[in-house]
Amino acid sequence: METPTPEVLEKLEHEALSSINAVTDLTALESLRVRYLGKKGLLTQQLKQLGKLPPDQRREAGQKVNQSKTTLQELITQRRDELEKIALSVALLRDSIDVTLPGRGSASGGIHPVTRTLERIEQIFSRLGFDIAEGPEIEDDFHNFEALNIPEDHPARAMHDTFYINSQALLRTHTSPVQIRHMQAGEPPYRVIAPGRVYRCDSDVTHTPMFHQVEGLAVDEDVTFADLKGVLRYFVREFFEEDLELRFRPSYFPFTEPSAEVDMTCVFCHGKGCRICQKTGWLEVLGCGMVHPEVFRHCDVNADRYTGYAFGMGVERFTMLRYGVDDLRLFFENDLCMLRQFR
Ligand code: PHE
Repeated sequence: METPTPEVLEKLEHEALSSINAVTDLTALESLRVRYLGKKGLLTQQLKQLGKLPPDQRREAGQKVNQSKTTLQELITQRRDELEKIALSVALLRDSIDVTLPGRGSASGGIHPVTRTLERIEQIFSRLGFDIAEGPEIEDDFHNFEALNIPEDHPARAMHDTFYINSQALLRTHTSPVQIRHMQAGEPPYRVIAPGRVYRCDSDVTHTPMFHQVEGLAVDEDVTFADLKGVLRYFVREFFEEDLELRFRPSYFPFTEPSAEVDMTCVFCHGKGCRICQKTGWLEVLGCGMVHPEVFRHCDVNADRYTGYAFGMGVERFTMLRYGVDDLRLFFENDLCMLRQFR
């Protein structure tokens, strides 16, 4: 090891300064610092060599080493600042976000048209004070038939094309069993609608094995057929946002007496007669009637004190009429071209 003569120190410092100036990254700079100023660094070692100098040179040489150390340290600090600044601007440049670029957009789904119709029906009846009732889709014979005045050998059973699970359980063929469950659960007055899925073993252009209905039930003292007409008229006009007329035709359901089928002005031709309404100007949209006393009896409702009406409507039918969909099967094929139109 050379002794720290002024020449040696001069050379060392010069060498160090040019290496520091040439360095381009922080790790290399740190290695240089260790090389010259570290515990075993070249300058540090020079200090230890001072003893080898003649005593009269030591003081001056010592000062010179310390001066060099300070100079190098300052230069290193300065260089580090510079390199850090450069590193920061590089990082900023690399990570910069161009806020003027168009967004990627997220593909949002839409609500299925049948669900939309259900929600719309629920909203309108809620405004009229109806609550929403629900019942199981797997029903028993009693709720789906018996309590609705459709005994074992009743011909109406044949119309229902029931899916039987076993001798006790079946898939409900209509939402009317919810009437029974609701009446059994509490005392009148009742004012509910029951939306939900129903099942019939039937499949062709106008039938799917699963479809949706909304049931309505209102029971109180002095409820009349006029109330039924008023509610349905209000509903249909709200739903289609048009001044449509209703026509009540006598009909038959085992669980209502009297019973009626309801037609409304054809929304496509406004009564003039077209292909959709088969030139009649009317579209059949609902079944309804006054709750049969036999149904009340099954639910322990006092038929002398209370009267009520019930109605049932097909949700797919209302959806088709409102959106001009002409094939029922489109609702269940999940074809995105169809569904995207309802976003
Ligand atoms: N449940 C009947 C059907 O599915 C509809 C209906 C409900 C009729 C309530 C009258 C009263 O066809």
